[in-house]
Amino acid sequence: MSERLKLAVIIGSTREGRWGPVPSEWIAEQAEAHGDFEVDLVDLREAGLPQYLGERDMWATPERPSEPVAGLGERLHRADAFVVVTPEYNHSYPAQLKHAIDYFMHEWHAKPVGLISYGAGSGGVRAVEHLRQIFPEVRAMTIRHSLAFPMYWEKLDENGEFTGFADSEPFAKAFLDELRWWARALVSARKEAPLPA
Ligand SMILES: Cc1cc2nc3c(=O)[nH]c(=O)nc-3n(C[C@H](O)[C@H](O)[C@H](O)COP(=O)(O)O)c2cc1C
Repeated sequence: MSERLKLAVIIGSTREGRWGPVPSEWIAEQAEAHGDFEVDLVDLREAGLPQYLGERDMWATPERPSEPVAGLGERLHRADAFVVVTPEYNHSYPAQLKHAIDYFMHEWHAKPVGLISYGAGSGGVRAVEHLRQIFPEVRAMTIRHSLAFPMYWEKLDENGEFTGFADSEPFAKAFLDELRWWARALVSARKEAPLPA
C-alpha cells in the first residue's frame, strides 16, 4: 500500500492551562517523520461541540448535524487511524473526551486507536485502561502499545520545555509501527467487506 494513512491525533484535554497539546504535537511530528502517516491534529477545545448531546446530532438521526458536530465528524470519518492523547483526571479520562466519543459512531468503526497518557505517578494508565473498555462499543480497537508520561512536570527545563521526549522516541516508533500495521489491515478489511452489524 503506497498511499499515506490518514491519522487523526486527538488532543483529549480541553482544560484551561492544559499540557495536552505538548505531547500531542510531539506524537504528530513523530508520525509525520515515521513516513506513512498524514496527520490531522484535532483539538477538542477548538471543535466546540455543543455541551449537551442534541437529538439532531446523534448518530441515529444524522441528517442535519450542527456545524461543530459535522466538522469534527468529517475529520474523524476521513481518518484511517487515531491517536488519543489523554490526561488522567480522578483515575479516568476527561469528560470532554467521552463527550466527543459519544457524539459519533460509524466514524470510529473498524479503525485502530493508539493511546498516549500523562499525569502523576501512574502516567495516566488508569485513563488508558478506561478508554480500552469503551472504544469497542463504538467498534474501534485499541492497540497494545501505548506511551505514558508520568510526572512530566519534573522534566521541564528552565524554559518550561519537556526534556523527556528523546528517551521516548524508540517507544514512539514501536507504537507507530503497530498502529500502521493495524491501520493498513483495517483499511483493506473495510474495502473488502463492511463491518457486520
Ligand atoms: C480534575 C483533575 C484531576 C486529576 N486527577 C489525577 C489523577 O487521578 N491521576 C493523575 O495521575 N493525575 C491527576 N491529575 C493531574 C493531571 O494528570 C495533570 O494535571 C495533567 O497535566 C492534566 O492534563 P491537562 O494539563 O492536559 O489538562 C488531575 C488533574 C485534574 C485537573
